[in-house]
Parts: sequence; C-alpha cells; structure tokens
Amino acid sequence: MTRVWPGGTIGILGGGQLGRMLALEARRMGYRVAVLDPEPEGPAAQVADSHVRGAFDDLEAAMKLAGESDVITLDTEHVPRELLERLETMKPMRPSARVLRVIQDRLEQRRFLEALGAPQVRYAAVSDAESLRAAAELVGLPSVLKTRRSGYDGKGQARAALPVELAGAWGRIGEAPAILESFVAFEKEISVLLARDVDGDVRFHPIAENVHRHHILRTSRVPARIPEELAAQAQALGARIASALDHVGMMAVELFVTRGGSLLVNEIAPRTHNSGHYSFGACATSQFEQHVRAICGLPLGDPSLLRPAVMLNLLGDLWRDGPPSWSPVLAHPAAHLHLYGKRRASPGRKMGHVLILGEDVEQVSTLAETIAAELDRGASAGRDG
Ligand SMILES: Nc1ncnc2c1ncn2[C@@H]1O[C@H](COP(=O)(O)OP(=O)(O)O)[C@@H](O)[C@H]1O
Ligand SMILES: [Mg+2]
Repeated sequence: MTRVWPGGTIGILGGGQLGRMLALEARRMGYRVAVLDPEPEGPAAQVADSHVRGAFDDLEAAMKLAGESDVITLDTEHVPRELLERLETMKPMRPSARVLRVIQDRLEQRRFLEALGAPQVRYAAVSDAESLRAAAELVGLPSVLKTRRSGYDGKGQARAALPVELAGAWGRIGEAPAILESFVAFEKEISVLLARDVDGDVRFHPIAENVHRHHILRTSRVPARIPEELAAQAQALGARIASALDHVGMMAVELFVTRGGSLLVNEIAPRTHNSGHYSFGACATSQFEQHVRAICGLPLGDPSLLRPAVMLNLLGDLWRDGPPSWSPVLAHPAAHLHLYGKRRASPGRKMGHVLILGEDVEQVSTLAETIAAELDRGASAGRDG
C-alpha cells in the first residue's frame, strides 16, 4: 500500500475551490501540491506549488501532472474515464477510476444504489421522447429530469409537473441522455460526510443539515436537527456505499429525509463537498485535512465538532455591482470569511462562504441570516473604501 509522507506531492485534477482548500491544508501539513486546470489563475492554482495548464481531457497535460505527483486526487468527478484509467497505471489514483465510472453517470449511480439495496427515489432512464413518456408513467409526476453526466448546482436539471411540460423539460436539458426522478416533497436535506482510509476504516464528520435555493446549496447547519437513530442509520448507509465502492478519501452522501421520517439517497460525491466546508474551522480535523490523510495512507484525524456552526454560501449574485462590502461579515467576530479568489463572478457561481460559529446553533443560524441580509443590502449600496 503506497503511503505518501509530508514532503511528497499531491496532484489534483481540477482547480476550483475544493482544490484550493485541499491545497491550503495539504501545504500546511508540508505536502507539495500540483494542480491540473485550464484557467490561468484558478482558485487552486493560486495557492499550489505547481500548475499544469490544460483541460480535463488533455491527456498530455494530465500525464505531466501525474509525472510530478506521488498520489492523484480530484476536485471534480467530471474527468473523462479513459484519462483516469490511464493515470491510474502511472500513480495511485484516490478515488479510483472505478469509483468515478459509477459516480459520474447518474444512471450508473442509481443502478449501483439499487444493487446495494439503498433507499432512493423512483427513477427511469431517458434516451428519447418515447422513453421519456414511459419514464413519466413509471415514476409519476411531478418529476425532475437530470442529465446523466456533467450536472452540478442544478445545471442539467429541469422539473415537470404536468405531462405537457415533459417535452419542454427535455429541451431545456439539451435532449441529452438523462434520468427522470420522482420529485420528493422532503422534510429536509442532510449530508453524511465520511472518510474511508486505505485500510477500509471509516470516520464520520457530523451530519450537515442543508438548505438549497434554486438547486444550489445556500446554508449548512451543524449539528443537524435529526433523531439520533436516523443519524446512525444515515451514517451506516454512507459507510456501506463507501465500502461497496472500495472508496478512499472523503465522501459525501446527500440524502432526503422524507415527511415520514425515512431516508432516500439523492446523490453521492466521492470527494470533499460544499456541505462539509463548515469543518474547515468548526472541526478538529477539516474535511480537507481528512481527505489528505486518507489518500496519503495516513491514519484519519479526529473529525469532531468543536462548536456549532452555520456555513453560508456566497454566490456571484452578490457581485452584481462589483465586489460587495465585507463589513457585514467582518463586523461579527464569530463570522469567518472564505473567498476563493475567482476573478469573474456570475449569478449562481460559488465565490466564497461565511462560516459562523457559536455556542448555540439557533443563535448562530439567526446571525447567519442577519449577515446574509446585510450582505445583500450592501451589495447594492457600494464597496469598502
Ligand atoms: N428528486 C428530487 N426531488 C426533490 N428535490 C430534488 C430532487 N433532485 C434534486 N432536487 C433538489 O435539487 C438539488 C440539486 O440536485 P442534485 O441532484 O443534488 O444535483 P447537483 O447537486 O449535482 O446539481 C438537491 O439538493 C435538491 O434540493
Ligand atoms: Mg447535489
């Protein structure tokens, strides 16, 4: 089993915010970090030791990254499978190409969950107008049509409530191969965050309670308000998924809690996850350090929560009149600003987040909403001098 000690180089496929925070934690621990990313100055490349510039399907660039690296990981699952399989012959890939093959296709992922007997929404494969009609019969309406590949933050998704809306939804996702899922009127959304190490040991970060707006994560709150028994059930399910995939590294399993109090798996992310950002500041070991430990073959760290926390995502909408004023965040000693160094903002784009800590999660939650409202008001009122 390959172990990579501090001083070694971690190669990251993808250079977004997940890669950036991973790089920050890895460098703190004494690792070198190399990043493959097409952008000249992306979030991770800004803080890495080395940047190989290239697209995710650029085999030559990816092989250059592999040449520099002792272990390879990723911050996006949207990397072509052939490329992953090739890199895997050169250096340890964690997670493995096999894990990515299952995860990067929503239909494969659903079939995997089905074979595992994991509870999930009703779904059916869609490849043309006819299979779409059949799928709607099978799963019922309202439903959500999702492209099999390349979706994130609700991209590649369209809802249909009535049969006449199906064709429009199919058009909106570009008539790409898809799955149709029944729409779940859930009670809440949670995510199980876990790390699995090279020996198969699993450790859990506290479950996050997540609120999405327009399909994009807005806030995560920890501890989540769910019964202990349900939390244990969710974590056991997460561990079963990670073990069945023989996954190594952090993993997030997004779940719906139904109004009847049962669990349905929404999706799996075989990497660090937005809903685990709270751990970077609120836990003894962040999800990023934990991922480094897992992929480098080190013992896992203590993921326990030091203080209740709320994470508030900062989307590009706040940049509508240029960079917003940060005074509303900085004025609160309990609030911590994380910005990803993205040069361009656009509506819905994740630009940063605020982590708010406190003794009482209700107070933390109230403060998060106050800060969100102040930021929003400030966004139109002008910048810091
Ligand atoms: N079947 C569904 N029923 C109800 N809400 C859904 C369903 N699928 C997705 N959503 C909502 O949209 C969000 C994003 O969808 P998701 O499938 O997680 O895609 P991604 O995060 O890759 O964009 C979910 O967190 C949830 O709030
Ligand atoms: Mg999701």
